Amino acid sequence: MLRRPRRNRKSESVRSLVEETSLSVKDLIFPLFLIEGSNKKIEVQSMPGIFRFSQDLILKEIEDCLKLGITAFDVFPAYPESLKDSIASESYNPETFYLKALREIKKEFPEVCLMSDVAMDPYSSDGHDGLVKDGKILNDETLEVLARMSLAQADAGVDIIGPSDMMDGRVGYIRELLDESGFTETSIMSYTAKYASAFYGPFRDALDSAPKFGDKKTYQMNPANSQEALIEGDLDTEEGADFLMVKPALSYLDIIKLLNDNFPLPIAAYNVSGEYSMIKASAEKGWIDNDRAMLEVLLSIKRAGAKVILTYFAKEYASFMK
Ligand code: PBG
Repeated sequence: MLRRPRRNRKSESVRSLVEETSLSVKDLIFPLFLIEGSNKKIEVQSMPGIFRFSQDLILKEIEDCLKLGITAFDVFPAYPESLKDSIASESYNPETFYLKALREIKKEFPEVCLMSDVAMDPYSSDGHDGLVKDGKILNDETLEVLARMSLAQADAGVDIIGPSDMMDGRVGYIRELLDESGFTETSIMSYTAKYASAFYGPFRDALDSAPKFGDKKTYQMNPANSQEALIEGDLDTEEGADFLMVKPALSYLDIIKLLNDNFPLPIAAYNVSGEYSMIKASAEKGWIDNDRAMLEVLLSIKRAGAKVILTYFAKEYASFMK
């Protein structure tokens, strides 16, 4: 036998020489959940180790994470029902607790890369990402709301806007309004290929944002499709996105690779709540090894072609690597 692939696996030192993919804390964005009030830190029941923080404690959490080398954060607000309405008007109220916290985070830690979420669902009494009329999700009318929300977030100082709603044309619409308003430096990480997935369940618990009727299949993509991801990638590229995101990550590694092979923009992948909780639940039962599973999952997403990974494991990974 001339070829013996095992020779390159014979020791730790040889294995590390031939290692093709490496993961770093710098690749990660840590999603954080924000609630109104002060001195609140409430664990998300379906996401062990993940909390909803009030503004004062989210600042402390970010400080802890910075010490571990995490430099990018994506903040999601959890709104009480009392502040929701059918047009998500709270989303662009300049005094709303989400925008105030974003402002405060940038003031206290100007060096962090702060990302925000653009979609109606946390503020919508219908629990959908767009305006609802007669049981339908309106596209073009929703763009106006998304753009107002984006402008308010850009004004609060965020570095990257993350439209997670999947309305057609929203990246271009938001880009234009941001530019007209002088926010030419605010980036857009588009949720380009966001699938209608079962793996968002724990996130909807965290935000109390589950749709009040129906599902999200008229705007989020069909898990059976990959060609469509190329159409979405083309549109987001033309419309001025700075990053293309695939979500979820694990059942869509082929889509990550597809976008990475076809577009020069950096590809991000969202290792979503259900993907996190599956590992936590089985590790709690002693059925799999938490740390090894975490490392393998994050590495696989990077290997598939993601430059950036949004993951609830960010802090745990960073602590593990210290
Ligand atoms: C909604 C949104 C969702 C997530 C991020 N933004 C859920 C959904 O589409 O219902 C899911 C993130 C996760 O599961 O970790 N705009």
